[in-house]
Amino acid sequence: MENPRVNLERPSNDVPAPRDAPEDDDNDTPMLSSQALEALKVFLSEQNREIKSGEDAAEEVALVAEDWRLSQFWYDHSTAETIATEVLTICQNLPSPSVACIACPTLYAYLKKIDPQVPAQLLEYDQRFEQYGSEFTIYDYNQPEDLPLSLKHTFPIVVADPPYLSKECLEKVTETIKFLLRPKESYILLLTGEVQKDRSAELLGLRPCGFRPQHSRKLGNEFRLFTSYDPETRLGGWEE
Ligand SMILES: C[S@@+](CC[C@H](N)C(=O)[O-])C[C@H]1O[C@@H](n2cnc3c(N)ncnc32)[C@H](O)[C@@H]1O
Repeated sequence: MENPRVNLERPSNDVPAPRDAPEDDDNDTPMLSSQALEALKVFLSEQNREIKSGEDAAEEVALVAEDWRLSQFWYDHSTAETIATEVLTICQNLPSPSVACIACPTLYAYLKKIDPQVPAQLLEYDQRFEQYGSEFTIYDYNQPEDLPLSLKHTFPIVVADPPYLSKECLEKVTETIKFLLRPKESYILLLTGEVQKDRSAELLGLRPCGFRPQHSRKLGNEFRLFTSYDPETRLGGWEE
């Protein structure tokens, strides 16, 4: 499994142990002056701090590398955390919460990082996410209902980030959302381009929020978050 954010080889930063004291004055082992030794310690401690902050970033969430042939563009840390926090806030008010993540593996990973107990299912085309075991379901939007019947009308929360900005792709993902969604109290979050605003309103009755999703690499298209419910003071609220 390719995972560039873990298993990073790094050189040891330990200050080398001083050699044994020379036995005679003829020993020509180079010695550092006390000032040079002090400067070396400061340098190594700075370098160690930089590596530690890099490790913190890697610990945020370990994801596989983006594959652009699959239209993979991962959210940046702040976006993933904001959406995950919103989903978990909704979960807190539901008697039996569960979340379907359609083609948004970063969200699934952040949900699990923040609350490992939250019931969540990732539907994805990329088989590298089989690493999530029984919480991974292979999914191709071209066969929108080719899914296990056990998932039908099961989820009170469905989040989707379709791979393409076409009408056809959103129509098919809409079929999947309706297949998965529980009929009673339910919540849809759709992350996609601004260009899908009218279509997402027609197909699913969604409206855009003020919050602007960002990606770890800059994209040309403006992205939006559309929801089926009014988030009120969260996510910048519903826009008119
Ligand atoms: C625009 S990305 C959304 C990823 C999201 N921004 C994240 O960080 O998790 C679209 C996703 O659709 C998936 N995908 C690509 N082709 C697909 C297909 N035929 N059916 C379903 N999903 C597909 C990609 O693997 C990718 O994860």
